[in-house]
Amino acid sequence: MARTAKFLALLMIPLVSSLIRFHANGAEQSDAEIAQAAFAIFSARCQKCHGPGESNSADMLLDREAMVGAKKVIPGKPDESVLYELARETDPAGRRMPPVGDPLKSEEIAVIKKWIERGAPNWEIPKADR
Ligand code: HEC
Repeated sequence: MARTAKFLALLMIPLVSSLIRFHANGAEQSDAEIAQAAFAIFSARCQKCHGPGESNSADMLLDREAMVGAKKVIPGKPDESVLYELARETDPAGRRMPPVGDPLKSEEIAVIKKWIERGAPNWEIPKADR
């Protein structure tokens, strides 16, 4: 009997920890998590044209300071940020970003909004990747 109880208790560990993780995602993400999530979107969807060595606005989108310095992102104010405006644009004839391919998903747009609202916290990039 004791062994069965122990076995059941062990089974509960992954269940409980996944519940905790689910809760953490659903509730507040830390600034670092939001920053990493925004960076993941920029790397996946924007780097091709805006990455280092590309001609469009240099490496603006992989460099938080450059985005803010060029006033494409106004920390704390998504509605005044050109970047958010273009990411949200739905008219294919408009200046939607990315201009080709699939538009950003609504979850991705939500991440960008939250990132700007949080004051556009910077992300960690391993030095070797820059
Ligand atoms: C296929 C290439 C391409 C991709 C991918 C792309 N862009 Fe752009 N982006 C451009 C070009 C070209 C311009 C400059 C032309 C313009 O301003 O309309 C630009 C300009 C911008 C600007 C500056 C607009 C201004 O008014 O100064 C922002 C901000 C921007 N892009 C954000 C993004 C974001 C965010 C993504 C990813 C979600 C993205 N772009 C993906 C090609 C791209």
